[in-house]
Amino acid sequence: MRRTFFRHVGQTSPSPLALEVDRADGVFLYSGDRRYLDMVSGVCVSNIGHGHPEVIEAVRAQAGDYFHLMVYGEMIEAPQVLHAALLTSVLPPPLDCIYYVNSGSEAVDAALKLAKRLTGRSRIASFINCYHGSSHASLSLMDSEERKGAFRPLLPGVDHLRFNCDEDLDLITGDTACVIVEPVQGEAGVIVPVDGFLQKLRRRCNSTGTLLIFDEVQTGFGRTGRMFAFEKYGTVPDILVLAKALGGGMPLGGVVSSKERLDAFTTAPVLGHITTFGGHPVCCAAALASLKVLLREDWVPCADAKGAFIEDALRRHPAVREVRRSGLLLAVDLGREDYASRMLELLLEEGAVSDYFLYNPTSFRIAPPLCISMDEAAMAVDITVRALDRL
Ligand SMILES: Cc1ncc(COP(=O)(O)O)c(C=O)c1O
Repeated sequence: MRRTFFRHVGQTSPSPLALEVDRADGVFLYSGDRRYLDMVSGVCVSNIGHGHPEVIEAVRAQAGDYFHLMVYGEMIEAPQVLHAALLTSVLPPPLDCIYYVNSGSEAVDAALKLAKRLTGRSRIASFINCYHGSSHASLSLMDSEERKGAFRPLLPGVDHLRFNCDEDLDLITGDTACVIVEPVQGEAGVIVPVDGFLQKLRRRCNSTGTLLIFDEVQTGFGRTGRMFAFEKYGTVPDILVLAKALGGGMPLGGVVSSKERLDAFTTAPVLGHITTFGGHPVCCAAALASLKVLLREDWVPCADAKGAFIEDALRRHPAVREVRRSGLLLAVDLGREDYASRMLELLLEEGAVSDYFLYNPTSFRIAPPLCISMDEAAMAVDITVRALDRL
């Protein structure tokens, strides 16, 4: 397996984790005779844990009824309709309609297109150290020349603003179609908005007629301790971008806005955004089951207390420079890049899977499934402290 993985499966870096997983259950991954605590959740995907029986059953049942029938939007497919109804029932106005796609990057792309189509403007504003995916459009939003330089030309007309900087909000003008922001910057290393920043951003967008897009691909579905981070930080966007945990472990993305706004994709031009597999019925069945579980269990309201428990325990360790956190999304900053990468190896040896951040090489990530129990959270602390002691 290992040889064939490196020989025939396309790689993203010279040093993948390369853990061969046999099965996954709850907060654990199993490889041979070893068990690993999952402190990444597949990068904020497995919020309800691995192998939830209700999701498995929903996938089985839908697979027995039908898979793909027709390109997105033509047929009335019950899993999509039921999921859309439940999701929009927990969202405030104007977020009453979802356009399904396949991934976060595609959802970002569609959201940018929607904003351009609705405003007739072409400029876009995004934030320094943002991450919105890897497609041409998503790459255009990043400021990191190192990551995107090789892929130019990209989308023109993107202004990069500093996160948490009031002054830079003046760069949003009457020419700006949309501002896209992660309410908590994930790959920047869990950068939380300072009090009032997102409200000021909202007001600036209102005054310039600019659409505000929140990318909640990482923060959505309970990660920050509220179902969506926009609730926690008290600002409702015009367009909400979802993926990752949306699909309950299956690939699914979505652009949420008002029905009226999303209808812009149907005219001038017709078929303004189309996708073959977007809203795949098996993925929507998994999404529906997963959302029902999340709404029923107390995992979302408990996420903050569990995160605070882990933060308090680790903050005291002498090797830890800083812990940044929103709910159960933590960045543990060790102040040195070599420490952070060594820490990932040590954690694996001690029995936990963690990951780094794209734009914060001195930190490692702790973002376990939200269903983690307090005993398992204590286990996460023990394992992490053992690894820190060895650093
Ligand atoms: C905030 C954010 N937006 C968008 C994306 C892109 O999602 P995908 O990998 O599904 O294209 C990611 C992926 O990590 C993300 O973290």
